[in-house]
Amino acid sequence: MSKLYDLTIFGATGLTGKYIVKHVYELASAQPDMFPSEFAWAIAGRATGKLQAIVDELEPMFPSCKIPRPAILVANIVRREQLDHMAESSKVLINAVGPYRFTGEYVVRSCVEKQCHYVDVTGEPEFVERMQRTYHHQAAKRKTTIVHSCGFDSVPTDMGVLMVKRLYQAKGWTPTQVEMFFRLRTGPAGLRGGYATYESAVHGFGSVELLREIRKVSELTQLPRPAGPKLKFHKRLSKDKQLGYHVPFVFADPSIVRLSQQLFLTGYANCDDKLTSGSATMPPTVQFAAYSLLPSLWIALLYFIYGFVFNFLAASPWGRQLLLAYPETFSAGVFSRDHPSQEQLDQTSFEITLRSKGFQTLTMPSDAAHQDLNAGLTAVVHGPEPGYVATPRIIVQCALTLLSNNDNGRIPVGVLTPSAAFWNTNLIDRLQEVGITFEERC
Ligand SMILES: NC(=O)c1ccc[n+]([C@@H]2O[C@H](COP(=O)([O-])OP(=O)(O)OC[C@H]3O[C@@H](n4cnc5c(N)ncnc54)[C@H](OP(=O)(O)O)[C@@H]3O)[C@@H](O)[C@H]2O)c1
Repeated sequence: MSKLYDLTIFGATGLTGKYIVKHVYELASAQPDMFPSEFAWAIAGRATGKLQAIVDELEPMFPSCKIPRPAILVANIVRREQLDHMAESSKVLINAVGPYRFTGEYVVRSCVEKQCHYVDVTGEPEFVERMQRTYHHQAAKRKTTIVHSCGFDSVPTDMGVLMVKRLYQAKGWTPTQVEMFFRLRTGPAGLRGGYATYESAVHGFGSVELLREIRKVSELTQLPRPAGPKLKFHKRLSKDKQLGYHVPFVFADPSIVRLSQQLFLTGYANCDDKLTSGSATMPPTVQFAAYSLLPSLWIALLYFIYGFVFNFLAASPWGRQLLLAYPETFSAGVFSRDHPSQEQLDQTSFEITLRSKGFQTLTMPSDAAHQDLNAGLTAVVHGPEPGYVATPRIIVQCALTLLSNNDNGRIPVGVLTPSAAFWNTNLIDRLQEVGITFEERC
C-alpha cells in the first residue's frame, strides 16, 4: 500500500493529542511554508465520533489554514490490523497514546514492520530503553527511524546539551561536564498536569528495577570513566550562588542524555555519509547532572514531604493504587483528572540553564584528571508551558524534520533519542521559529 498521509497523529482525542492537532492547524495558518506542498495528514484514535468532533471544533477556529482537512483513521491498540493499516498508510506517525509502557510497544512494532517513521512524547526511560534494545536492529534494517521522547521530555535538554557541545567544537575547545538546572515559572492561576502524565510517573517510579535489568543486558557501549575532573553530583537540597535552591531532577532527561551519548559512542547515530558527503563531526561525551530549581526553602520542605510519601507508595502495588486514586492529594493539587485552564497554560513557562566546563584545547589534555578546567559557557533553553504548549510545538517540528530530511541521509535509522536522531539537522533552528529558544548566555 502506498503512503497516503505525510503525517498521522495517533491519540488525537487525548489531552496532548488534541493540543498537537490544534498546533498543526495553528502552524498551517501562520507558517504554511513549514509544510511540504501537497501535504496530506490524518488523525487517528479508537472512536470515529470523537475524532470527527475534534475536526468540527478546530476547523472553524482556523479559517486561513492552508492544508487540507485531515482524514480520520480508526486504530485501537488491541487491534493489530488497525495499527498496521495506520502505519502502512503514513510516512511519519506522532504517537500521543500513553502511558507508553502499557500502550507503546504495539505501535512501535507496527511502525517498524510497515516502515513508518515514528515520534512520541514519552517520558518513561524504561519504555524507551526496552524499545531501543528490542527494535533497533529491525528498524535499522527496514530503514525506519523511531525517535522517543520528542516532547518537553527530553528535547530541550537533549538538544541543549548537543548545542553546548557544538559551541565548544566551534571555539576549538573540549567540553567535559554539563549541569542542567530546570526552572518552572507559574502565575496566579497555578500549575496543572494531566492525569496520564501522573499515571506514567507513578508507574515509572515503580519500574526502576526493570530499568536496571534492561541496562545490565544492554549491548550499547558503556560511557567511559570521566577523563577530566569528576563532576560533583548534589544528591540533597543544595544552594547554587547564582541560581538558588535545587534538588536532583527526577524525570527522564538524565536517562535520555545518557542514552544519547551511548548511541553516539556505539555508532548508532551515524548518518549515511555517502548521501550527506562531509557530514558534521560527532559530538564528544560529557559528564552530566540535572537539577530542579525550587523558589524557596518552604517549597523545598513541601517537595521533600510529598516526595517521601510518593516514593514510599510508588514502591508497592497497593501504594500505586492509592496514588492513582487520589492524584490531587498526593501531588499538592498539581495533577488532576481536570484539564489545565487556558489561564494556567498562558501563565506558565520553563527555563533550562545548561552550565558547562571543559578545556580550552581541541583535544583532552593527557593528564586531564589533574588539570584545572579552564573553559566554560552557559546556554539557556526557554519556552512556554512545557506539557501542552511547548510539547505540541516540539513534536510537530520533530515530525516535520523527519518528513523533510529522512530521505537525504541526514537522519540515522534505528530506535533513537532526539539528539541521536536530529544532530545533523536544523531542528534547533526550527524550534526557535516556534518559540522554543536556544541561546548562549554571555
Ligand atoms: N513529554 C512530555 O512532555 C509530555 C507532555 C504531555 C503528555 N505526555 C505523555 O503523553 C501521554 C498521553 O497523555 P494525555 O494526558 O494526552 O493522556 P489522555 O488525555 O489520557 O489521552 C490518551 C489517549 O490515548 C488514547 N487511548 C487510550 N487507550 C487506547 C487504545 N486502546 N487504543 C487507542 N487509543 C487509546 C485515548 O483515546 P480515547 O479518547 O478514545 O480514550 C486518548 O486519545 C502520557 O503518556 C503523558 O505522560 C508527555
